[in-house]
Amino acid sequence: MKIQNKYETTKNLSFSSAKNILQSARDWDKFYASNIPSSLELNPVIFNYIRPEDKILDVGMGFGKTIFDLVKRGYRNLSGVDTNQSGIVFAKETVRNFNLEGNFKFLTGNANNLPFENNSQNAVITQAFWTTIVDNEARQNVINEINRVLKNKGVLYIADFGQTPQIQKYRTRYETGRVKGYDYGTFEVINEKSGELEYLAHHYTKEEFSKLLMNAGFRIENYTISPVQTRSGNVIDGHTIIARKISEINKD
Ligand SMILES: C[S@@+](CC[C@H](N)C(=O)[O-])C[C@H]1O[C@@H](n2cnc3c(N)ncnc32)[C@H](O)[C@@H]1O
Repeated sequence: MKIQNKYETTKNLSFSSAKNILQSARDWDKFYASNIPSSLELNPVIFNYIRPEDKILDVGMGFGKTIFDLVKRGYRNLSGVDTNQSGIVFAKETVRNFNLEGNFKFLTGNANNLPFENNSQNAVITQAFWTTIVDNEARQNVINEINRVLKNKGVLYIADFGQTPQIQKYRTRYETGRVKGYDYGTFEVINEKSGELEYLAHHYTKEEFSKLLMNAGFRIENYTISPVQTRSGNVIDGHTIIARKISEINKD
């Protein structure tokens, strides 16, 4: 199996989409180890769908907060991937320093080209990850990759930020983003101290997630929308989805 360089993106992406996903990965590299933003916690619904012996892959794992939560709950076959190498190093050191029990595989890599075998995972977790993928074509590639590494009938868990235009501040962000040429729901997050662009974020509609999943061979089994806190402490709509892989779509 070929292990990808973290910035290597290949699979069928146009030049501009490859550039966009690489740029957002670089933006997220600015955060060091346990400072990688992580404001969501696992929604308990997931425990109806995963068993302790399952092979579980966390895509965009950050510094491993979700992985460590799963370890505490008795899950033992845990992998993760992230473009931010400092998060991967932090997770590996935590496993070593605390002598955590289990089979762990943490890799620096891009979700667009997952360094995992076809049909190898019982479940994939993506928490506050899709918000970082603001390019629609790149998003399709990532979901195809997730389909590829999941076993048939494997489960995909998504927890992410939903469009919340009923809050004026967010409606303004989405509208300003649109004026700047981004898709509605995408906006610039500016560092308050430096005034510089930190990263682009996308907030999703239920329709966007549903279409993404259905076009990529998934069936949605559970979809809830409930309040969650963002990194900046605002409370907006959070979308939690359990989807099951029901058909193969991409194995090249
Ligand atoms: C908001 S953080 C969430 C981290 C983690 N899932 C959590 O909830 O604690 C988003 C993570 O996605 C990672 N990321 C962004 N683009 C990525 C890509 N193309 N491939 C893999 N990871 C990516 C970032 O480096 C960052 O660690």
